[in-house]
Amino acid sequence: MRNSSLQVLMLLTFLCFLFIPLYMVSNQYETPPEETWRRTMLQQQEIYTYTEQNYRMSYIQDETVDLRIVVIVFNRADSLLRLLGSLNVAFYFGERVVLDIWIDRSKDGLIHENTFRIASEFQFKHGVKIVHNHTFHVGIYGQWLNTWTPKSNSSEIAVILEDDLTVSPYFYKWLKIVHTKYDKLVEVNGYSLQGISIKHGEGSEGLLEAPFGNIVFLYPVIGTWGFSPNRRNWVKFKDWFDVMLQYEKFQPLVPNILPTSWYKTFIKTGKTEGMWSMWHIYHSWMSREYTLYPAFPGHLGLTVNWKESGLHYGQGFARESRDPAHNLLTRWRPEYEHLPNYPIRLDAYGNIDTDNEP
Ligand SMILES: *[C@@H]1O[C@H](CO)[C@@H](O)[C@H](O)[C@H]1NC(C)=O
Ligand SMILES: *[C@@H]1O[C@H](CO)[C@@H](O)[C@H](O)[C@H]1NC(C)=O
Repeated sequence: MRNSSLQVLMLLTFLCFLFIPLYMVSNQYETPPEETWRRTMLQQQEIYTYTEQNYRMSYIQDETVDLRIVVIVFNRADSLLRLLGSLNVAFYFGERVVLDIWIDRSKDGLIHENTFRIASEFQFKHGVKIVHNHTFHVGIYGQWLNTWTPKSNSSEIAVILEDDLTVSPYFYKWLKIVHTKYDKLVEVNGYSLQGISIKHGEGSEGLLEAPFGNIVFLYPVIGTWGFSPNRRNWVKFKDWFDVMLQYEKFQPLVPNILPTSWYKTFIKTGKTEGMWSMWHIYHSWMSREYTLYPAFPGHLGLTVNWKESGLHYGQGFARESRDPAHNLLTRWRPEYEHLPNYPIRLDAYGNIDTDNEP
């Protein structure tokens, strides 16, 4: 990859942390300062705990579901349509699939009508579709943290997808393989679907890459372009988050990584409500947990992110070459199923991390 492309990708990843989803940009509101935000979050968590039963009512019960696809969206109808289209042409092997589409409200309580229309008119060919209007504005934290609430004995696989992604037809095939193989490892907190990422170490350069021959690797920082949690670790993370929110002085800062610098900037500008992932990164760091990434040849991904493409190639290129669908995994190879019992682990600089090997 050319150097300038890399810089653009770095900038882009930063922007994603900053703006995904574009709540803050599209909402012309003052962002509440840190304290207000925490109070709001605490209230929301309480309301959710209280209403979880009600939410569950409309769910298909866990024990009858193999895959739950959680799509989170606010006001981007076109992106949603594109994502849903890719979900319809993916392979599900006749298994029991539920598609939950969660639509957030604006801060003054409105559901974006066109987004709702796209969601409700969409015909999912492979299972049950349920459109959920959030009952109030939950923001990116609520979208990620309160849309999958599995029972303690649930064995369903869940995947959380923001609206600006497209999935590979093989994303569920992949999820089944890695969940089966790695859920039992206590240090694996989940599975990212993206095939491309920057390195997150402070001052690091270049793309994140596993040494040749590895189809998977573990990494300390979550990739949010499609994430499928390990249920056990996800519940632990959410419980921890609810507790830590109450410590007003606590900040989830991890030494020597870029996301920490971004988060610090947000603290100064009162925009931490845009970066839920920092809490996940901190929790993983503290509990020595890692996210599993795929490492397919050519950085092919089980998802691609459309914002990446727009910035990546700029205006001057032919439409085809800007189409990030080119970076989707569209051909399955048998070697993708031959995974090591224990994946190689990289640190935030992309170096092989041999500390405390099991
Ligand atoms: C999970 O627990 C519920 C009762 O709490 C039970 O009805 C259900 O069969 C259990 N499911 C599994 C997969 O064990
Ligand atoms: C969700 O919001 C849409 C758009 O405002 C509305 O038409 C629909 O009835 C709402 N659905 C529920 C269950 O409240």
